[in-house]
Amino acid sequence: MQTLDYKRSHTCGELRALHASKTVSLSGWVHKRRDLGAIIFIDLRDRYGITQLVFNPDQDVALHKLASTLRSEYVISISGTVIEREVKNSKMETGDIEIQISDLQILSEAKTPPFLINEDEPGIQEALKLKYRFLDLRRHSLQQNFILRHKAMLAARNYMDRQHFLEITTPILGKSTPEGARDYLVPSRIYPGSFYALPQSPQIFKQLLMVGGMDRYFQFATCFRDEDLRSDRQPEFMQIDIEMSFGKREDIMKTAEGVCKTIFSSCKNIELPESFPVMTHLDAMEFYGTDRPDLRFDMRLIRVDSIAERSEFAVFKDQLKQDGCVKAMCVKGGSEFSRKEIDKLTAFVSDFGLRGLGWMKCGPDGLNANIAKFFSPELLSELQAAVDAKDGDLVLFAAAQESIVNQALDHLRRHIAKEQKLIEENALCFTWVVDFPLFAWDKNENRITSEHHPFTTPHPEDLAHLKTDPLKVRSLAYDLVLNGYEIAGGSQRIHDSDLQHQIFDLLQLSQNDIEEKFGFFVDALQYGTPPHLGIAFGFDRIMMIVCETDNIRDVIAFPKTIKASDLMSEAPSKVAPSQLSDLAIKTLE
Ligand code: AMO
Repeated sequence: MQTLDYKRSHTCGELRALHASKTVSLSGWVHKRRDLGAIIFIDLRDRYGITQLVFNPDQDVALHKLASTLRSEYVISISGTVIEREVKNSKMETGDIEIQISDLQILSEAKTPPFLINEDEPGIQEALKLKYRFLDLRRHSLQQNFILRHKAMLAARNYMDRQHFLEITTPILGKSTPEGARDYLVPSRIYPGSFYALPQSPQIFKQLLMVGGMDRYFQFATCFRDEDLRSDRQPEFMQIDIEMSFGKREDIMKTAEGVCKTIFSSCKNIELPESFPVMTHLDAMEFYGTDRPDLRFDMRLIRVDSIAERSEFAVFKDQLKQDGCVKAMCVKGGSEFSRKEIDKLTAFVSDFGLRGLGWMKCGPDGLNANIAKFFSPELLSELQAAVDAKDGDLVLFAAAQESIVNQALDHLRRHIAKEQKLIEENALCFTWVVDFPLFAWDKNENRITSEHHPFTTPHPEDLAHLKTDPLKVRSLAYDLVLNGYEIAGGSQRIHDSDLQHQIFDLLQLSQNDIEEKFGFFVDALQYGTPPHLGIAFGFDRIMMIVCETDNIRDVIAFPKTIKASDLMSEAPSKVAPSQLSDLAIKTLE
């Protein structure tokens, strides 16, 4: 029989020795039951903590009997007296006290859960936890993540408000947006055969808000992208989306730095530096092989083309002849790596298309290894100086097309850092990456595409190349990188409709395409558009770092699997034939 006879004077995390002899009432879940001889101990749990309850048959036989029926995850309500424990448990915040029970109500029984809500229980499969997400959410560590997420949202919102940004909601049912991933589509019942697209981001709307004179906008915006998922990617994720009029890049950077500072100070009590370092895209690619360098450790990539050129080593020279490059990386203390360990590294890079890994060890007399014989002593000392190798170091070499070298050495650099424990725990290394290329080459379609999106302003210094060599043109786009994660990206927008048309032309978008895709937007640009720029944070990614997890699912209450399904509700799912016919849709099976 359902009872509504529950009370709560305190939470399960609140009571201390100073509350001794008080009469209190608590409600929560049975975390653990222990029968010690005659006495039954119950650990009662809620979001705030765990409190020990004591049922003593000498005091109340009926209550003790009822307590013996309690099982894990029953929801109960109790009243009783706070007693200072004789043997205190310093591991529990409430470990100085326990409750002598005078009343017990069972509010809800529970089936035996498929796993215990216990932090220490190892080896539970993630799929099982996702299927029973509502149980997994009871775990202390997950609850802490959502408390932090809430704090971060509140802090960021208040910060944006203080900077005069307005939070404005933009539509979820809209038209396809230009972020470059595949859209999630929603069929229209009223217009059979027509579809809304879920927003990949509020990009067009936030620019229109600037045309609409809103001056400063932000939004915690849910975005949807049908793309291959990874541990830091979900099909449905949250951005802190930001746009401002009449600002400069420094203004948006300052705002974004302010968002990071307020999040880390409110969630972690960490004061971040006033501003973050800036690196060009060119340097990021050159020295780290990636546009999201992890700067928590050094191990830069060093180009050694000119030295390799003068060597006798055919493998390197052949690659250079075919417009490839040779880059080296110095692993401090790596000369202890065995042949077998180096072979493992070679196997590791082969996944990224690199056929081999050259290596030399640095001893007291300089560099040596089988490939050293192809280098004159002078070249070897030049090489040693270039990579700054000292006695005890290992130098690794990659020679191939630049994109392969970069990709392989970027992964290898991070792999070695992890294995060798070179990453300082708790380090937070932010960097801006600026001056991205405006365009990229799409091999499949044999044409240029936007590196970010087509509304990004070309770098003023490169405007002359737009017609002659567009792939050389840099853009006024910027990313913010933290510990190797791209946590935000944005750009200065085009506010001039002629320039916007020129970019569309280069992207080979026909007048029809433009009309169809974003005609309304291009039209709006002709009615007085302020210069404007913006950025969007991947809020879940920041929360991953705040919560010290490398799994994005740990910071999203009801996440999808890597295959974009929700194991709990079993979405996506088939729908009733009548729903399909309402939408004039026939499936192929
Ligand atoms: P962009 O596409 O770079 O820019 O996205 C901004 C940030 O969103 C995060 N992000 C993701 N997080 C989790 N799962 C995903 N699938 C996912 N995709 C992106 C990243 C990224 O840095 N409209 C532009 C912003 C602008 O120009 O103002 C945009 O969406 O952290």
